Formats: sequence, structure tokens, C-alpha cells
Amino acid sequence: MTTVLVLGGAGYIGSHMVDRLITKGYDVVVVDNLVTGHRKAINAKARFYEGDLRDKDFMRGVFKKEDKIEAVFHFAAFSIVPESMKKPLKYFDNNTYGMIALLEVMNEFNIKKIIFSSTAATYGNPEHVPIKETDPQNPINPYGASKLMMEKIMHWSDEAYGIKFVALRYFNVAGAKPDGSIGEDHHPETHLVPIILQVASGKRDKLYIFGDDYNTPDGTNVRDYVHPFDLADAHILALDYLNAGNPSDAFNLGSSTGFSNEEMLEAARDVTGKPIPAEVGPRRGGDPDTLIAASDKARKVLGWQPKFDDVHEMIKTAWNWTVKHPNGYDDRNDQDANH
Ligand code: UFG
Repeated sequence: MTTVLVLGGAGYIGSHMVDRLITKGYDVVVVDNLVTGHRKAINAKARFYEGDLRDKDFMRGVFKKEDKIEAVFHFAAFSIVPESMKKPLKYFDNNTYGMIALLEVMNEFNIKKIIFSSTAATYGNPEHVPIKETDPQNPINPYGASKLMMEKIMHWSDEAYGIKFVALRYFNVAGAKPDGSIGEDHHPETHLVPIILQVASGKRDKLYIFGDDYNTPDGTNVRDYVHPFDLADAHILALDYLNAGNPSDAFNLGSSTGFSNEEMLEAARDVTGKPIPAEVGPRRGGDPDTLIAASDKARKVLGWQPKFDDVHEMIKTAWNWTVKHPNGYDDRNDQDANH
């Protein structure tokens, strides 16, 4: 049995990863500081250590106790674009410094494989879409900049210490485990799909669409959506890829299809059968016009075959989670709905 460490395994995508690894027969160790994650999101078959990856002594303790860990899946980063515009240092500290601390400890314990959640935000405003892995990376927000630095730090740590990495650059993630047992629950919630569904379920009055004067067909931002279940499978394939002795590399993970914010709203109206009131508001800082992935490299090299290729299906799984868990994991006191 292969033992792996999932950093951020209590978070939205990390919890889907843990669940999928356990289904596939892996032995899973989770580290999470529970700042944004939820204890209840962690599959009960994983061994959980609560702590912060920047705390090197804590991490040494985990690697000492769990001496069979062969590889690390790193999901433990802050990922909210607008927050990063206001609090850039929070992002460079948690994300970028966190990577430095992690690689130091991994190197001490001779753990030489890492699969990293990178992002489309490392590309900034692309010159053309779909975006290829070889296209220029010029982030337009601190979040994207923090993750680009993390990619570069991994590159030089590979050169110097032989720590092999796969950077998976996710586009926009939406959906939940189809049985509705785990899903997305952020405080405050800032992402488009869960906010639309909060309006559908009556927790919020309306959706504000941030800008309709972008350089896109209907003027609202266009994004490429991918389901966390498919992301999890790509991570497992990425580990197989490194285990086969392949070199470090980066792969986009997306559907290669773009949906505008207006189109996502329409799709959610279809799925939920609710009117979902919406109004156009001012632009939010740091939003590129259009982000669409060229993801043929992941399909070709890793053999990735996403099972969710229709946003309606993705939204359906998120809606199932929302209906079953109207208050998410119900482990926070704050209420972030707007009434
Ligand atoms: N949006 C609205 N109203 C809202 C919330 C969002 O109009 O209430 C819009 C945003 O302006 C943007 C789109 O919906 O145009 C998607 O916004 P999200 O906040 O859902 O997602 P982002 O595109 O900002 O970022 C997400 C992840 C990042 C990742 C990025 C990659 O949060 O971590 O996708 O494309 F880097």
C-alpha cells in the first residue's frame, strides 16, 4: 500500500483528493491547519494531523511518525484572487514561504516527489486562448504571483536536491462529490458557483455579476470549469507519471471550453429551476477577461480523461451538496450571506 501525505486535505479540493485516494486504496495522511478547511470534510480513514506546514518542527514530527510517506500532494494554499489583491503578504507568507519550509523538510526526510496545485492565475491576462503550458506566465494578481514563485522554487529544488514535481495548473473548479457528502464551503464565500447556488437556495438575495464590459462575447468574464473528482484523478496520474521516472513538468487542467459568468448563471437556473435574481455590478480587481485551458497535454502525457465535461453536470453535483448541506459543514459561527 502506498502512503501519501495530503497537505490541505480538509479543504474543498483537498478533501475530494483524500476521498478519491482512499477509494483507490492509498494509505492517506492529512495535514491541515483548519484555517479554511473543515475537520468534517476529511475522510475518516485518513490519519489527520492538525498544524501548519510553515511550522517545520511540526512537519518534522509528522514525517518522523509517518515514516512511510512516499509523496506529497500540496493543496494547502490560500486561493482567493480578490483577497490576495488586498492582502498580498498573507499570500506570499502562507503560499510561497510555506513551499520553502515544506521543501526543506521534505529534503531532510528524503521525500522526493510532490504534486502541486498550481493555477491558471499564473498566466495573467493571456495573449490568446486556449492557453498552453508554454505560454508566458505574467500574473495580474498576488495569488497568481505567489503560485508562480512556488513553481519556480520547485524547479530549482529539483535541480539542486532532485525533488521531482508536477505542477497542475487548475482552471476554475466547480462541483462536489456526486453523493453530496463533501463539497465547497468557504467563509466568506467568494466563488461564482456557490454564490449563485446560495441565491438559488434563498441564503442570498441576488448575484452581483462583477462587470459586463470585458472583452468577451457577452461582456462578462469567461472561465473554464473542471470538477474536483477529475482533478483528483489527474493528481493520481501525476504521481504514477513521477513514479515511472518521468521528469518534472507542468500541466493545465481544464475542459478546454469557456463559459461566461452569464452562461453559468443561465446553466444554474436550468439545473435548479429557480429564478436566481442577478444584477451587474462594478468590476472586481484582478480578473482576466478570459481563461480557457489547452489541456491536451494532460490528456496525452498523463492519460487524463475527465468524466465531467458539461457545466450543467458539475452544477448539479454542487446543487446536490447545497441542498443536503444548506449550512455547509456547519462548523463556523460567522454568516457570510448578505442578509
Ligand atoms: N464573480 C461574479 N460575482 C460573484 C463572484 C464571482 O461575477 O459574486 C465572477 C468573477 O468576477 C469572475 C468569475 O465570476 O469573473 C469567477 O470568479 P471566482 O471567484 O469563482 O473564481 P476566479 O476566476 O477568481 O478564481 C478561481 C480560483 C482561483 C484560480 C482561478 C483560475 O478561486 O484560485 O479560478 O482560473 F486561480
